[in-house]
Amino acid sequence: MSESIRIAEAVNFVRAVCSYKPTIGVILGSGLGGFTEGVHIEAEVPYTDIPHFPISTVKGHGGKLIIGTIEGTRIVIMSGRFHYYEGYSSTEVVFPIRVLHQLGVKTLLISNAAGGVNADFTVGDLMVISDHISFAVVNPLIGPNHDDLGPRFPDMSEPYSKELIARAHAIATEAGIKLKQGVYFAVTGPSFETRAEYKLIQRLGADAVGMSTAQEVIAAVHCGMTVFAISVITDLGIREENNKFTHEEVLDAANAAAPLLTTIFNKMIATL
Ligand code: HPA
Repeated sequence: MSESIRIAEAVNFVRAVCSYKPTIGVILGSGLGGFTEGVHIEAEVPYTDIPHFPISTVKGHGGKLIIGTIEGTRIVIMSGRFHYYEGYSSTEVVFPIRVLHQLGVKTLLISNAAGGVNADFTVGDLMVISDHISFAVVNPLIGPNHDDLGPRFPDMSEPYSKELIARAHAIATEAGIKLKQGVYFAVTGPSFETRAEYKLIQRLGADAVGMSTAQEVIAAVHCGMTVFAISVITDLGIREENNKFTHEEVLDAANAAAPLLTTIFNKMIATL
């Protein structure tokens, strides 16, 4: 079965549950589920029900599409995402992105938890992603190109919308939220990086490192979506001492920062 048919079957299923046409998609990263509290929910569609959707296996990931409105704006939320380290191919990881696109999503807001490698960062910081380095993970566009989705060799000179980045800074300033900005380095995980790896990643020009997002962004840009993404800095990889941390600590730090992220996303959505 071709990818286009698989996408169409998933889209038809979601449309049959809820005929809403959302234009904004939101992907919630680990521990960032609090965002859904302000959403007027029209329908919740568990990933397990949607044809061809992979199934999320990670603690802290809800695993459903939430369709609804925020202050009247139609959105679809991916509560829980798919990671390469779970054993999915990178094409499977981005399947939901393509479904969102076919559902009508034009703008994608992404959040994630990431390790800070910029020496000026502290745990709990929010970092707007200005660009990414993704060559350490498998490109999701490898394989036959789906010409109906986008070109064989898509441009990646501005994967993260400069316009939305500027808007985020204006929103943060007005709301009194400190916003960092930087380059996201994508790794496969699931092990966290060694000290040497964190240092290398820093020297390669990145500010944060994480196990998601970049593949999603590549697929989203491929099919012409406008993308905005924020990392919550949940740990600091470059510390010399006491550098042990756990997934639970990452979730705790993400939870603590979630209200600020929610504010930025909500105010951003109001401008879209
Ligand atoms: N490395 C990779 N992924 C992560 C990290 C990290 O330090 N923190 C949260 N996600």
